[in-house]
Formats: sequence, structure tokens, C-alpha cells
Amino acid sequence: MTAVDDRLATATSIFRDASPKRRAPGFGAPIGEDTYDEKSHDMPWKSSTERYGTMAITIHWISAVALLGLVASGFLASGSTDPTTESDLLRVHVVLGVSVLVLTVLRIVWWGLIDRSPPAPVTTPQWDARLAHSVHILMYVVILAIAASGIALLMLSGTATQLLSGTPGALPDFAGYAPMMLHRIGAWALIALTLGHIGAALFHQLVLRERTLARIGLGR
Ligand code: HEM
Repeated sequence: MTAVDDRLATATSIFRDASPKRRAPGFGAPIGEDTYDEKSHDMPWKSSTERYGTMAITIHWISAVALLGLVASGFLASGSTDPTTESDLLRVHVVLGVSVLVLTVLRIVWWGLIDRSPPAPVTTPQWDARLAHSVHILMYVVILAIAASGIALLMLSGTATQLLSGTPGALPDFAGYAPMMLHRIGAWALIALTLGHIGAALFHQLVLRERTLARIGLGR
């Protein structure tokens, strides 16, 4: 048996025997019982030892698209010189931002109480699995901070009603309000974390050939 065969045999046996104690760290707290959704293959809302469940995949991709729209609409609104265009963009921005906030809270509750993420493949070094886990937690924290500062911006500037009722008129210069600094730094931090997250996923998929994308619903 070669060294590669040996590693593969170990990998297979660990996956077959994945128990809460042996899995790589995931977000879900050890709840005592194994919470993987091994039995309900017809409607796998919860994750299995090999892939994320439908709920996690749905939240992940809706949030990804919404965050893309948020960064675009945020920068476009900030740079807009036409009050009507700025208000239209900000309306979209606020609806997407509040939706992402709700999805992130749902995601935290889901991982904290109901589901647990699939263990990292055994070919993944522990430092790598831990780094990925930390980046995911940091992304949740940054999203919560950006959303909270965005809501604070609207409250402090008194523009929530004007914006959401569609009342015409110039908006204030949001840069003059303290939460804008946190909002801005948070947005750039999230962009950096997301680029790292995408880069790592592609490295695991294309270089290490770990079928990482299939775990999160892209391909088989
Ligand atoms: C949760 C994800 C969010 C992301 C990623 C995000 C991203 C951004 C970005 C990139 C900007 C432009 C920053 C700059 O000019 O440097 C921005 C501006 C802004 N965001 Fe957000 N945002 C989010 C949520 C929210 C929420 C929930 C609200 C309000 C309820 C909000 C309100 C605003 C406001 C008022 C501006 C200023 C726009 C202007 O200057 O015209 N954001 N956001």
C-alpha cells in the first residue's frame, strides 16, 4: 500500500465514522447527539457529513447575490450627484441590507442550534480548517456591524421615513455621521474577506481537487 492509498483509506474510514468528537471544527455547537441529517435524504435541509444542507446552501447563495448588490448600490449611491438616483439606489440598498441582516441572524441560529457544518476533508490540514472557520465567523460579525451601522446612519440622519416613503428631496451627506466610518471600513473588510473566501474555495476545488463547490451546491 502506497502512502497515498494509506491516506485515502484513512479518509474513507473517518468519513464513514464521522462523530461529533472526530469532526473538524464547524460552527454548530456540539449538541450531544449527532445532528447531521443522515436519514432524510429526500429533503436534506440539514447538512450531511459530505455536503451542506438545503437550508445552508439557500442562505449562502441568496446572501452572496444580495451582498454583491449591496456593495454595488452602496458605492453607486455614495458617488451619485443626482438626489433621485441616490434615493432610488439607497432604497434598494436598504431593502437588501435588512434582508441580509435577517438571513445572517437566521444563519447564526441555524448553525448554533439546529445544524452543523460538514467536517473538512481529512486531506485539509487542521490550521486550514480552523482558518476557514474563523473567516466564516468574522464574516458574520462584519456583516452584523455593517448592517447595524447602516441602520444607525438612517436613524441619526433622520432619513429613514423620507427614503422609505419615497418623499423627494436631497439626502444629507452621510459622511458627516459617525457610523459612516464603521460602515465604510466594514464594507472594505467584507470585500477583502470575501475575496480570501472565494480564493480558498477555488484553491481547494481546482488545486487540491476536494470537490469543495459540490459541498455548497455547485455541481456534483
Ligand atoms: C449588510 C450589508 C451592507 C453592505 C455590504 C453595505 C455596503 C455599503 C457600501 C459599500 C457603501 C458605500 C460606502 C462608501 O461610500 O464608502 C454603503 C453606503 C451606505 N449604506 Fe450600506 N451596506 C450594507 C447594509 C446597509 C443597511 C442595512 C443600511 C441601512 C438600513 C445601509 C445604509 C447605507 C447608507 C445610508 C449609505 C450611504 C449612501 C450614500 O452616501 O448615499 N447599508 N453601504
